[in-house]
Amino acid sequence: MFFKNFAPVFTLALTSTLLFVGSTTGQSCGRADVFTRSDDELILAQFSELLDNNPVIFDGPVSVSEAPTQTTRTTPLTIEDLEYYTYFSASMYCPTSLKTLSCCYCGEFNATVTDFQIFENELYGTKALVTLHSSKSEIVVSFRGTVTFMNFIMDFTLLPTGVSNGGIQVHLGFFLSLMSVYNPVVKQVGMYLARNPGSRIVVNGHSLGGAMASLFVYFMTSLNQFPFTNYALVTSGQPRAGNVAYADYMNFLNIPMNRVVARADIVAHLFPVSVPLLFGEYYVHHGQEVWINGEEINFCSKRVYEDPNCSNSLGPVYSVLDHLQYFDADLTVCYLVEGWLEIDLVTVEGFTPTNFLPPMPTVMRGILVGLVQGGYQGLLPVLG
Ligand SMILES: *[C@@H]1O[C@H](CO)[C@@H](O)[C@H](O)[C@H]1NC(C)=O
Ligand SMILES: *[C@@H]1O[C@H](CO)[C@@H](O)[C@H](O)[C@H]1NC(C)=O
Repeated sequence: MFFKNFAPVFTLALTSTLLFVGSTTGQSCGRADVFTRSDDELILAQFSELLDNNPVIFDGPVSVSEAPTQTTRTTPLTIEDLEYYTYFSASMYCPTSLKTLSCCYCGEFNATVTDFQIFENELYGTKALVTLHSSKSEIVVSFRGTVTFMNFIMDFTLLPTGVSNGGIQVHLGFFLSLMSVYNPVVKQVGMYLARNPGSRIVVNGHSLGGAMASLFVYFMTSLNQFPFTNYALVTSGQPRAGNVAYADYMNFLNIPMNRVVARADIVAHLFPVSVPLLFGEYYVHHGQEVWINGEEINFCSKRVYEDPNCSNSLGPVYSVLDHLQYFDADLTVCYLVEGWLEIDLVTVEGFTPTNFLPPMPTVMRGILVGLVQGGYQGLLPVLG
């Protein structure tokens, strides 16, 4: 029952593909009209059967939304900032043109890039981009969202894992995904910081990339990786990444932290708080939601974990399609144009997660290996 409810997300890759077919006509560079869903009817007609079969994600009531947080966030980002950083997140889906920062969304920020570096972990299918903008005293760290088979496996490796002595727990799959690129990314950021002392570090990502961005800020700050450094966190369509203790930690950081949610984006409501997770943990959002609902832009309450008057108000039925467009960026087009042939299910063959797991308790490790391998076996027919 639990997993049946997530069937729409398993079909996300498929939907994206077909969405692309139905949505590119008349658009250049993967751009959609701002805040419109002119293609919705066409798409919905094409996929009504698919959606009819899997329409409901139940995600309420969000009782934790009433709990106050200790937020001291004072420096807001503007909607223009949020749009600007979302282009980084969108660019991450362009496998080929990203290599030269010449993707269509790259045009929004590449003029100020002094240096950049891309990091990939092929096993985990993860990718990060670090760009240095000397004249702006800024380093931008971007993480790519779900596109590979391993990303799907990790998305659903939803056990909580402890990351501190203080009861802070995070989604294990997101944690592993971040860890798969963490060291080289931190090293690169350190090198850029040395070249441009005092630069602000802005971390961003869409979907899984948003969760990785959140965890990246968590580790950078909690490990005090670069003392006296300013951060900002911008995510779009981010799933819940950690438990209440994690959200409290994040909200207590005095940094701009915005979570953009488009309309009824289903991924912003994963994994449902109403579903009891293993070990009695549940996941909850942190940071300030910025809800884009049609023409309306809503900077939501900072005094609750999740504002019931923002995207949560559209529940319990959420939309897969709303996950795929943020501002005027179509998050599926670039990958499908450049990357379709790069979707490499073959790399999963002979894949042995056991060799790549970080140190963790034996029981956790056993469960994870079973889950990953079981999921791998069980999912293949879905995608294949
Ligand atoms: C920036 O991106 C645009 C595409 O939007 C591309 O035409 C241009 O060559 C890129 N410029 C640099 C400096 O990479
Ligand atoms: C949501 O809206 C209701 C009615 O306008 C209001 O009373 C309540 O305080 C709002 N909740 C938050 C968290 O802003």
